[in-house]
Amino acid sequence: MTLSLDFFRSSIGKKIIMAITGFIWFGFVIAHMLGNLQVFQGPEKLNAYAKFLKDLGPLLWVARIGLLVAFFGHVITAILLKKENSAARPVAYKKQATIQASGASRTMFYSGLLLLTFLIYHLLHFTFGVTNPDHYTFEYTLKNGEVVHDVYAMVILGFQQLPIALAYIFFMVFLSLHFSHALASMFQTLGILAPKHFPVIEKTAIGLALIVFIGNSSMPVSILLGWVK
Ligand code: HEM
Repeated sequence: MTLSLDFFRSSIGKKIIMAITGFIWFGFVIAHMLGNLQVFQGPEKLNAYAKFLKDLGPLLWVARIGLLVAFFGHVITAILLKKENSAARPVAYKKQATIQASGASRTMFYSGLLLLTFLIYHLLHFTFGVTNPDHYTFEYTLKNGEVVHDVYAMVILGFQQLPIALAYIFFMVFLSLHFSHALASMFQTLGILAPKHFPVIEKTAIGLALIVFIGNSSMPVSILLGWVK
């Protein structure tokens, strides 16, 4: 018990928590993006998919609670690590390395804060229908006769508005920057691969981050330009 507490109190323990909780969110973002891309297949597909998710019932709640725990684990650990980094900064003989490390983690911390802002706005917009209740009220009748929430109309009406579409694209830039650095450092932290593989890892991380950026931004861009109606 004491040993495991010591482990989680250590810097490497915290970095491992960051890596695991961050990876859970990365997995969610990829799955969420693939699901959302069905917007390009029309209202029937996207609305049936949203209904399928809702029908998962308890499983959906397990996933939501898992995401929430991972989220708080990630944010709280990030704050603790930031405090440790600030406290370590005056150590003179490590000057160069410390400046580099704290520079990277500072960027991560602030892009993380921006993502938190995005997430709060995103949930208020699409999940709770608070910011644009007029986008949230539509219903859709599926081919099987079921009447469901019209998620497709909500997304289209949302991204037809220039400020909303631009805000999403803006946040996706930071999401991708956050991911590209996080994925690369995750492999280094967990020590899964040897240092000689780091250049490949960095390129793979940038590639994955680009996929997330292009996939997610393709929706607001296509809807704003009227390609998807
Ligand atoms: C253009 C990009 C995105 C689109 C079009 C989009 C769309 C949506 C929609 C339509 C919902 C509501 C689903 C429903 O009520 O059935 C939703 C929920 C959600 N989105 Fe996104 N999303 C995007 C990006 C993201 C990103 C980048 C994240 C995380 C960083 C994210 C996290 C979430 C979460 C946590 C929920 C709540 C899920 C639940 O509780 O069931 N989304 N999104």
